[in-house]
Amino acid sequence: MGTMLVTGGAGFIGSNFVRMACERTDDHIVVVDKLTYAGNTANLGGLDVEFVQGDIAEPSLIDGLVANADTVVHFAAESHNDNSLRDPSSFVHSNLIGTFTLLEAVRKHNARLHHISTDEVFGDLAVDSPERFTETTPYNPSSPYSATKAGSDHLVRAWIRSFGIEATISNCSNNYGPYQHIEKFIPRQITNLLDGRPAKLYGTGEQVRDWIHVDDHNDAVFAILERGHIGETYNIGADNDHITNKRVIELICELMDGKFVHVADRPGHDQRYAMDATKLRTELGWSPKYTGTGVDGLREGLAQTIAWYRDNESWWRGAKEAVEKQYELQGQ
Ligand code: NAD
Ligand code: TYD
Repeated sequence: MGTMLVTGGAGFIGSNFVRMACERTDDHIVVVDKLTYAGNTANLGGLDVEFVQGDIAEPSLIDGLVANADTVVHFAAESHNDNSLRDPSSFVHSNLIGTFTLLEAVRKHNARLHHISTDEVFGDLAVDSPERFTETTPYNPSSPYSATKAGSDHLVRAWIRSFGIEATISNCSNNYGPYQHIEKFIPRQITNLLDGRPAKLYGTGEQVRDWIHVDDHNDAVFAILERGHIGETYNIGADNDHITNKRVIELICELMDGKFVHVADRPGHDQRYAMDATKLRTELGWSPKYTGTGVDGLREGLAQTIAWYRDNESWWRGAKEAVEKQYELQGQ
């Protein structure tokens, strides 16, 4: 039994990871999370973990936590593009200074690090492009969010090469599932429809995201922790890069018997993300559960996610009014 430190473990993907880790390992799990608007200790309800509220950019706190950890899984970040367009400063702080602070502690204490990143570091593809991003696609981020995530990946690679830290990186496509903040596309639409509002589609909705269920993402993170090669980067995606935003919103409306409207588009909107996860599939034997031809895998994952938001209204209700007010100011 070892100790696993999970940064950002009170957020969406991190808390789902911690739940999976409690089932799959005997490790003592320590979560460090600043509890920004996106973090919520209720996400860890009923789990046997140690929780520390704190900022990953705080060197003395992080040094002490990493000193006692065998493994560090790094989810903590500011994560929403629309927020990064309003105020980028917290993105630079958490994503860049925070990752730097963690790397220095990992270097000092020889912990094994896995760094969680995004497909958005590669920029976007044309809507009709047949291409997918691979691990060697050059970085070309568009927004303050993706630029700070790209910077954090570069820092991790430099610490691997220059200082020999034991780290791996994964870049995953858009996640959906339980406990996702309702500012994001899929939970925003589900809670709009549960709330008697129409779903809101930016622009024409021809954009493509390679949607993956959060449990498939976290299963891939476990494959990398257990079998990944130190120093390597792995792309994670579920082969859903043929499904437009419009099709996703239509599916949600079909499943919930609702309607959608078009609202103002996002400035600088990335058109298409598509991941080639061949390396992860062939080298580490990973495959996603929520996948399939057409929209079958996504439909199954959406149905499970809709049921969760329906059954857990008290989890999202408190934030709904303020989130919608902010979007209204932007014509969205
Ligand atoms: P989230 O916003 O739901 O959670 C982020 C968590 O990090 C929150 O609990 C927040 O309180 C915490 N945090 C933020 N700044 C912190 C700081 N300075 N110190 C300590 N804690 C801090 O985000 P998420 O969607 O769960 O994303 C987690 C990670 O996965 C991020 O690194 C993100 O870039 C990456 N990622 C997300 C997606 C996606 O679709 N959501 C896809 C690929 C990769
Ligand atoms: P989002 O969940 O914000 O993730 P990202 O910006 O990281 O891709 O948005 C996913 C897609 O959905 C993106 O193309 C923007 C679009 N979108 C809408 O059409 N309506 C909405 O209400 C939101 C929040 C996003």
